[in-house]
Amino acid sequence: MGSIILFVFLLLVASNGVLSKGNMTKEISFHQNYKVIWGDNYVLSSNQGKEVQLKMDNSSGSGFGSKMTYVSGLFHMRIKLPNKNSAGVVTAYYLTSEGKMHDELDFEFLGNRDGKPYRLQTNIFADGQGNREQRIKLWFDPRADFHTYQILWNQHQIVFYVDNTPIRVYKNKSNIGVGYPSRPMQIQASLWDGDSWATNGGKTKTNWKYAPFKANFQGFDVSGCQVLSSSNSQNCFSEKHWWNSPKFWQLSPSQHRQYEHVKHKYMTYDYCTDRIRYPQPPLECL
Ligand SMILES: *[C@@H]1O[C@H](CO)[C@@H](O)[C@H](O)[C@H]1NC(C)=O
Ligand SMILES: *[C@@H]1O[C@H](CO)[C@@H](O)[C@H](O)[C@H]1NC(C)=O
Ligand SMILES: *[C@@H]1O[C@H](CO)[C@@H](O)[C@H](O)[C@H]1NC(C)=O
Repeated sequence: MGSIILFVFLLLVASNGVLSKGNMTKEISFHQNYKVIWGDNYVLSSNQGKEVQLKMDNSSGSGFGSKMTYVSGLFHMRIKLPNKNSAGVVTAYYLTSEGKMHDELDFEFLGNRDGKPYRLQTNIFADGQGNREQRIKLWFDPRADFHTYQILWNQHQIVFYVDNTPIRVYKNKSNIGVGYPSRPMQIQASLWDGDSWATNGGKTKTNWKYAPFKANFQGFDVSGCQVLSSSNSQNCFSEKHWWNSPKFWQLSPSQHRQYEHVKHKYMTYDYCTDRIRYPQPPLECL
């Protein structure tokens, strides 16, 4: 009986496919792959480094980053957001390269007044150019529990996932001149004061009465192709890395349906349809 249940479970995991791998790897310590990069005294690790808390008050925020840089991967983090009136507070999980022509893939959780839901903003920079914001409402309370946020990056597509649901897809359309991230990127997470823009377009300010704000992180293993310099990054597109295999070149039909559902039901802003900002839709939106 037990083995039948296990078998069915494995089948489910296998057919669900995509994200099972990242999620089934073992727990490793923060310090193995990450280091504190901002606000030393505001980063607290617990449970043998398997969990890390970032803190922000009126004198500092905090952040951490991966020790290595990566080209391609399926990056993941489990995050629990500040559980208070968090207007103005931004919790971010992202990949970024350095320099002016930088690439960047962002999850930005925009805090809100008590009782009002968080908004999740994503953005994509390629060759130093961003301005590709999308925002969604979440279908759960991200402060109540940990949820998994993931970024797939291979030569064919970039996909943002919330738990296992794709919420954003950015295809490689470099053949029609659209920028596509290619530079080695560091994984970072941070908690900072974004009250000049994050909530109600900056009209609702951070209420420091509720400080310190705290965000919790888990899941410090990394499924990505490490690079020391850009010279050997071509190997990072090899299909020997599972996230580069054909299965990850496009969404499966069921993922596609989930994605359409999210766009229809939860998307509150999409730069692609903002005709005030872009009278001509950007090329990648066509
Ligand atoms: C792994 O994914 C499954 C199904 O999506 C979920 O129920 C489970 O909580 C996840 N495990 C971890 C450790 O995140
Ligand atoms: C920061 O908060 C502390 C404690 O709430 C308070 O004593 C201090 O005056 C505040 N500092 C600033 C610059 O607002
Ligand atoms: C984008 O796709 C083209 C093929 O159309 C490929 O040559 C290129 O390497 C890809 N770019 C990146 C950064 O993966």
